[in-house]
Formats: sequence, C-alpha cells, structure tokens
Amino acid sequence: MLEVAHLDAFYGDGQILHAIALDAAEGERVAVLGRNGAGKSTLLKSLMNAGPRVAGAIRFDGRLLAEMPSYRRAQLGLALVPEDRRIYSHLTVLENIAIARYGAAGRKAMEPRQILERFSMLKPLEERYGGQLSGGQQQLLAVGRAFAAGPRLLLLDEPTEGLAPVIVEQMAREIAAICDEEKVGLVLCEQNIWFARACTSRLYLIDTGRIVFSGGWDEFDRNADLKQRYLAV
Ligand SMILES: Nc1ncnc2c1ncn2[C@@H]1O[C@H](COP(=O)(O)OP(=O)(O)OP(=O)(O)O)[C@@H](O)[C@H]1O
Ligand SMILES: [Mg+2]
Repeated sequence: MLEVAHLDAFYGDGQILHAIALDAAEGERVAVLGRNGAGKSTLLKSLMNAGPRVAGAIRFDGRLLAEMPSYRRAQLGLALVPEDRRIYSHLTVLENIAIARYGAAGRKAMEPRQILERFSMLKPLEERYGGQLSGGQQQLLAVGRAFAAGPRLLLLDEPTEGLAPVIVEQMAREIAAICDEEKVGLVLCEQNIWFARACTSRLYLIDTGRIVFSGGWDEFDRNADLKQRYLAV
C-alpha cells in the first residue's frame, strides 16, 4: 500500500532524511523507532507533504504522490496524528471527533459514538471541551479522532509521550483491535519499545535521518546492541 524509496527531506538547506526506504502492505502495522532528533516526525510529515521539502518516491497504491497536497493525501486514506495534536479547544470531545469525518471524502467514515465506544477512556470525556483536557487526554482524543475519517493508513507520531503506563497498555490494546477490525495500516513513530511492539509486527530503526535496521521484533531482540546504539535505553 505504501512504498517509500530513496526519500530525502530538507528544512531549508539542511538535509534531515537520507535515502529512506520503507514500506507497509495493506493493513500492515510497522514501527519506526529512534532517539530524539532522529528524524521520525520529519518522516511522517514528509509522507503527508506537511512541512519538509522532499525528493524521492512515495507511492500509495502504486501511485506516485509527488507534489500532491496534504488534503488530497487525506482523501486517499492517509491520516497523520502530528506531535502537536491539534485538538480544537472550543469544541467538545464528541465534536472534535465528529468534525474529522469531513476528511473521509467518500470513504466509509466511522460514527463518532462508535469511536467513543472503542476508546473507552474517551467515553466519560464526551462533553468536555478540548481546551479543558489534560495533555494525555488530548493525545487519546487525537488518536481516536484520527480513526473517524476511516483512514487506510494511519501515521502516528509518538502517541504515548507522557502517558501513564496503565494508559499506554490500554491504548495499545485499543489501537491494535480497531486496526485489525477496520483493516487500518499503521506507521507508528515511537520511543516506547513496549508499546511499539504491542502495536506492530516489525520495525525500522532510524538514526540521524537514515534507516539503520529493518526487520522483525525477534531479530531486533537477537541484536542486543541495537538498543544501546540507537535507542539510548
Ligand atoms: N522546522 C524545522 N526546521 C529546521 N529543522 C528542523 C525542523 N524540524 C525539525 N528539525 C530538525 O530535524 C531533525 C529531526 O527532527 P525530528 O523532529 O524529525 O526528530 P524526531 O525523531 O521526531 O525527534 P523527537 O523524538 O524528539 O520528536 C532535528 O535535528 C531537528 O532539529
Ligand atoms: Mg518527533
């Protein structure tokens, strides 16, 4: 479904990503792990054409995205939950979810109530305004909301940052379940190895803008030095 070949990305004259190769089949879930500043957010923004200048080939369903603007990519079924979440503070939780359905563009959107059922931690917050939510609650909402437009491939930027462990566990279960049932693919950028493992079937490691490892979790575990070299744990 997604095929990325030799992707370079730049901010101004500074090159951030170097010859990235990455792919995800229909409904497949992959993780991208890397330290602070490794290039994870730049990669997701590049896939969405939401910031960096890019060179190289990004294909979705075999089709070259090239200069296609973000909103058209969203219409094809790509959805990004960016690091700054972008919750509407003057809308309630339910309204934040409902408004996301306008991005569906002919694809099957999910009922906002269905999203609240699937993300049980959002349910009691239904009437709360976005601006009244804690940082962690805003993160939950951003993830739940992303499913409302019926995406085919979700790009999640460190959704667990700052969340309590028990909430991270529940979020992993709920994301995996909804992705399975709705056949949503995932590119998950993370530093939380436990969460990434719980949500995906294989991973990439990124370091200073380059992919330095790609493989299954078993292979990652067999190479103990990878963690130390690239993940600062
Ligand atoms: N708008 C920008 N302009 C210039 N440089 C940027 C910009 N955004 C990010 N960078 C630089 O690009 C590099 C990669 O940043 P990026 O945000 O992609 O890393 P990251 O892996 O997402 O890190 P983190 O885990 O801290 O979110 C960093 O050196 C960063 O300083
Ligand atoms: Mg980031």
